[in-house]
Amino acid sequence: DVRTPRVLSIQSHTVQGYVGNKAAVFPLQLLGFEVDPINSVQFSNHTGKYFHIRCYSIVRGQVLDGDQLWALIEGLEANDLLYYTHLLTGYIGSLSFLEMVLQVLQKLRAVNPNLIYVCDPVMGDEGKFYIKPELAPVFRSKVVPVASMLTPNQFELEILTGSSIRTEKEALQACETLHALGPSQVIITSLDIDNKLLLIGSDKPNKDEPAKQFRISMPKIPAYFTGTGDLMTALLLGWSYKYQNDLAKAAELAVSSLQGVLRRTISDYEEAGVSPNLKQLELRLVQSQTEISSPKLAYRAEKL
Ligand code: ATP
Ligand code: PLP
Ligand code: MG
Ligand code: NA
Ligand code: MG
Repeated sequence: DVRTPRVLSIQSHTVQGYVGNKAAVFPLQLLGFEVDPINSVQFSNHTGKYFHIRCYSIVRGQVLDGDQLWALIEGLEANDLLYYTHLLTGYIGSLSFLEMVLQVLQKLRAVNPNLIYVCDPVMGDEGKFYIKPELAPVFRSKVVPVASMLTPNQFELEILTGSSIRTEKEALQACETLHALGPSQVIITSLDIDNKLLLIGSDKPNKDEPAKQFRISMPKIPAYFTGTGDLMTALLLGWSYKYQNDLAKAAELAVSSLQGVLRRTISDYEEAGVSPNLKQLELRLVQSQTEISSPKLAYRAEKL
């Protein structure tokens, strides 16, 4: 059924907790997508850190290498199963895996030239890399040019554009820089300016026209979450497909939905009498079905 949008999602899997595919697959399914996950790693739990301290002291599991990824793609291809409307990628741990993802994209676009590639260029956060910095130039020179939608955070935007981003104006300019390299849609998922949390969107469907840019302000919840970046990118993919000519509307829905999930997560922990400590603060994703499938529009985009 080619009318059902179909996403190939290459991301991490954790046995417990919600990051990577565990944070992306269920929400996209709730939004009506067929989602085919390839687990780039299978870990017992996430590797997230809070102020340089691991939320979980131990991580065990397996890492998929580029050849193993390719074997899965060859299997799909041999059965004529390579028709996708979207490719979604998040954290990628090695150069060889990243190169293979680019090969996968080529194959998918040979089958569907209109395939949308939604790329979260996960490299780091808050001034620090959590990948090998050697991957950064590959993201810049090979990945950005082929992405349809890019969802960097502030740090990743700085790495990709090679300039420091301290103001909204600099962020908007950086979006233009990225548009010129390839992606027609850029969403800065979090920009921390003057202790305010902003999402910045920039939509440039036509190279000859200026980008349509907007901001959404969000409250900063005094807690630390993991998986929110992955969930955000999945929601942006989902809503931007439903509102193909209105990225601002799609972002309003994604932000409203995500903030709903975070509110429910906090309140569930509080109701259970558990003070939300780091280890326990996994997203309450399954319990947030309503917030995901029919979010109340609580956050509005301001056109810039
Ligand atoms: P990436 O995964 O590419 O590194 P990111 O750094 O933006 O992206 P997060 O920092 O997890 O990922 O943020 C994703 C979304 O979740 C953002 O829109 C952000 O505003 C929201 N978010 C995360 N933590 C909080 C928080 N404590 N309070 C409010 N919103 C939050
Ligand atoms: N994948 C794995 C295995 C992780 O450990 C993490 C964070 O710890 C993530 C993905 C991404 O998390 P986030 O969505 O918060 O950026
Ligand atoms: Mg962040
Ligand atoms: Na992001
Ligand atoms: Mg992240």
